[in-house]
Amino acid sequence: MVPKWVCAGFVYLLLGLILNVAEFCNGGMTSGYQRPNNLSFDMPLDSDVFRVPPGYNAPQQVHITQGDYEGRGVIISWITPDEPGSNTVVYWAENTELKNCADGIVVTYKYFDYTSGFIHHCTIKDLEFDTKYYYEVGIGNTTRQFWFITPPKVGPDVPYTFGLIGDLGQTYDSNTTLTHYELNPAKGQALLFVGDLSYADDYPFHDNNRWDTWGRFIERNAAHQPWIWTAGNHEIDFAPAIGESIPFKPYTHRFFVPYEASESTSPLWYSIKRASAYIIVMSSYSAFGKYTPQYKWFTNKVTEVNRTETPWLIVLMHPPMYNSYVSHYMEGETMRVMYEPWFVEYKVDVVFAGHVHAYERSERVSNVAYNIINGLCTPVNNHSAPVYITIGDGGNQEGLSTAMTQPQPHYSAYREASFGHGIFDIKNRTHAYFSWHRNQDGYAIEADSQRFPTSTETIGRVLCSFIKIRVSFRFLSNSRHDIFDIKNKTCGIAIEMDFLSMLILTSFTGKNLEIIPRILYNMIRNSFLLAFLLIVRLLGLFVLQLNCSCYKMNGLNYRGGFIVRPPKDIALSAVLGPAS
Ligand SMILES: [Fe+2]
Repeated sequence: MVPKWVCAGFVYLLLGLILNVAEFCNGGMTSGYQRPNNLSFDMPLDSDVFRVPPGYNAPQQVHITQGDYEGRGVIISWITPDEPGSNTVVYWAENTELKNCADGIVVTYKYFDYTSGFIHHCTIKDLEFDTKYYYEVGIGNTTRQFWFITPPKVGPDVPYTFGLIGDLGQTYDSNTTLTHYELNPAKGQALLFVGDLSYADDYPFHDNNRWDTWGRFIERNAAHQPWIWTAGNHEIDFAPAIGESIPFKPYTHRFFVPYEASESTSPLWYSIKRASAYIIVMSSYSAFGKYTPQYKWFTNKVTEVNRTETPWLIVLMHPPMYNSYVSHYMEGETMRVMYEPWFVEYKVDVVFAGHVHAYERSERVSNVAYNIINGLCTPVNNHSAPVYITIGDGGNQEGLSTAMTQPQPHYSAYREASFGHGIFDIKNRTHAYFSWHRNQDGYAIEADSQRFPTSTETIGRVLCSFIKIRVSFRFLSNSRHDIFDIKNKTCGIAIEMDFLSMLILTSFTGKNLEIIPRILYNMIRNSFLLAFLLIVRLLGLFVLQLNCSCYKMNGLNYRGGFIVRPPKDIALSAVLGPAS
């Protein structure tokens, strides 16, 4: 007679094996689209999208970006070609008569044989949240009027929609990308731009007239919604052979950002809050090693992010850390080595990058265990790791990056060499939706998408079918963020499966889990979890939150705890901590 516990163990292991089959079925994919790598040509100088506004010294290249830390400020920039003209911005809220004025500054620069127009930057502050404002620049009959809408007040459940474009350039494809973004019914409210703007440096002597055409090209969108800038390699403009040895000269003159508001010492790296998101912009082409200004700033800033206020932590940089295309393969490696441990420790949700002229979305993976002698240098699934999304497919004249490394590595979830843009649509503190839109499709079509957070969905979905507690599945899928809310107990709906199973496993093995073959680990993990949930179900309890780990919140170290709620919603909480 076989003991009952042996039978039960066998059933658990069998179910665990089935769960793992389901999990592995969710593997990476290379799109079937096969595009020729035809170069796309820049639009000619007399294209309508480059049209100079009529009138003497009329303001042109109008664009806006966030002008403070929290979204109540806007930097308005424009260029007057012939003379400085007026520095003043007149602005007013919709449905009010009261008009306000703000004065900006004007800068110019020379680059080889090019002299810029008069570049105006005016910061308007203390605006009302979630309000439509009109503004005017210029004087007399060349005054031009635009509008923008300020974001809602920063808060954890504030919905907000970001667009994503990178490596845009100024080709016919670039124009298609921008049009596609503008007409996308998902309606991006601000644009996260991941570097490589005009590609003027592809011209002889970095012809800066192509910076001007690019400024006029993007005005139709960038004058109405803030573009959050990231510097790419095409912004460096370092050309000592023609006497130009100051990096980023055209870029930093033309595109101001509110870097001082986040205590940064350089416009090339900075951070902002916007709605429910905290956005960190990094510079891959500035010093970022240990003890450098950028490193010091980043490592301070990332620890200060208050996830109860801005649960979504987004990082922008130019070259991707995880890239499986041949183009720029491993170029992001030095930055990855320096910063990936921070991204994992502080649970960055998503890292957006460009540089590779294609689209790619990664699994949640990390590769942070290597210490020179342990041989652990392969990406592994990690629910604390960000999703890495390459969106360098804006459509510039260098063409698509069609060559891919083969076979598709485990860390790559989806890849396709097509031009397009992305939308990151935040619903509330626990749910967001990313979609990628290729230019060849209709405006509402999603060529790829991912719900956030997704770390445990596959397992959760299968578990549901076994134990029929759909409500728990919903809780499972929320596991990444709620850990940060344990203090306020406002949400309290997560089971940190990995922490639980790792705790159990480590208590059994006492060894580093990395050395356990992954399939065995998953099998055991799922079987234990299933057993746990079944017991919970038998007891008639919903376990709403269980964190068996140490973590940091608001600068304090917390021990994990748990909150157990009986079905009638009577809370029995046992949150442990803070520990120090
Ligand atoms: Fe680039």
